Amino acid sequence: MSGNSFGTLFKITTWGESHGPATGVVIDGCPAGLKIHEKDIQKELDRRKPGQSQSTTARKEADKIEILSGIFENKATGTPISLIIRNTDTRSKDYEKLKNLYRPSHADFTYDEKYGFRDHRGGGRASARETTARVAAGAIAKKIIPFITFKTTLISPDFKTIEAARKEGDSIGGLIECVIQNIPAGLGSPVFEKLDARLAQAMLSIPGTKGFEIGSGFKGAEMKGSEHNDEILTKKGKVMTKTNHAGGVVGGISNGMDIIFRVAFKPTASIAKKQQTIDQKGSKKTIEIEGRHDPCIALRALPIVESMAALVLADEYLIQKTVK
Ligand SMILES: Cc1cc2nc3c(=O)[nH]c(=O)nc-3n(C[C@H](O)[C@H](O)[C@H](O)COP(=O)(O)O)c2cc1C
Repeated sequence: MSGNSFGTLFKITTWGESHGPATGVVIDGCPAGLKIHEKDIQKELDRRKPGQSQSTTARKEADKIEILSGIFENKATGTPISLIIRNTDTRSKDYEKLKNLYRPSHADFTYDEKYGFRDHRGGGRASARETTARVAAGAIAKKIIPFITFKTTLISPDFKTIEAARKEGDSIGGLIECVIQNIPAGLGSPVFEKLDARLAQAMLSIPGTKGFEIGSGFKGAEMKGSEHNDEILTKKGKVMTKTNHAGGVVGGISNGMDIIFRVAFKPTASIAKKQQTIDQKGSKKTIEIEGRHDPCIALRALPIVESMAALVLADEYLIQKTVK
């Protein structure tokens, strides 16, 4: 299975499955000498951890980071950094009944079609356990760009709505907004590697995402140029725009304004309610999904969105410093 790596200069490769022994990441291209403390990585992983409230999956994982290579005396050595997060709370028997069934809107059918077979336990590689590795790598990416700040918020739904869905054995979608500040102008590339295109790819690679918009996004399609154009001015010698419909990126390159984007998450596919599906032989089946699931993916995805943004920006920052 290819497609497990992301990034150009700061390049990550994630590995591992939901109910395997561990998940992890190998980072190639981290600048030597970068100060990295285990606790900085742990802090980000703790934000992503499951089982922290009623409104997340009941799976309880310590998500303890272990550094295997590439960091010595709290400094990157310049060699590949390898990080591992062990899976400790797997309950694979929960998935035995689902072994031959295709969960609606989950990746069972598509994985079987592509690979001929799959690790059915806990969703295998399609599980959000894989995102532990992204968050660990994102914590290091943030160290490369410490002057950039991220504010990531859940726009919708509210906790009551999530709880109501959970109690009904159902799930609900959600919307996350990320505002990134203190970005230097000039990051990104003009054609295929546009900064907004890279952010879109990063966000849509997170499991369960269905939409990405930057700045005015889809609303821009209903506006006039005179309303949408961001007038240019200078403030204390800095070039700025009066409004920020661009969301901080013009022509694929950052303009120094805040980068503002939103990511839409679908309702969690695994729900306890009865649904119609088929088994691997194509016979009609009714499915009721037991086990531990997040009633709202978006609630847990805030640090994942932020980590993926940090990975893109750290990579672009290194590119801009070296190969303009
Ligand atoms: C933080 C997070 C938690 C998730 N939890 C679940 C879950 O408990 N149950 C589930 O069916 N899907 C969950 N998902 C989504 C699935 O991994 C995803 O829907 C599945 O891999 C199919 O991929 P797609 O929705 O991107 O097409 C979660 C995703 C994220 C980011």
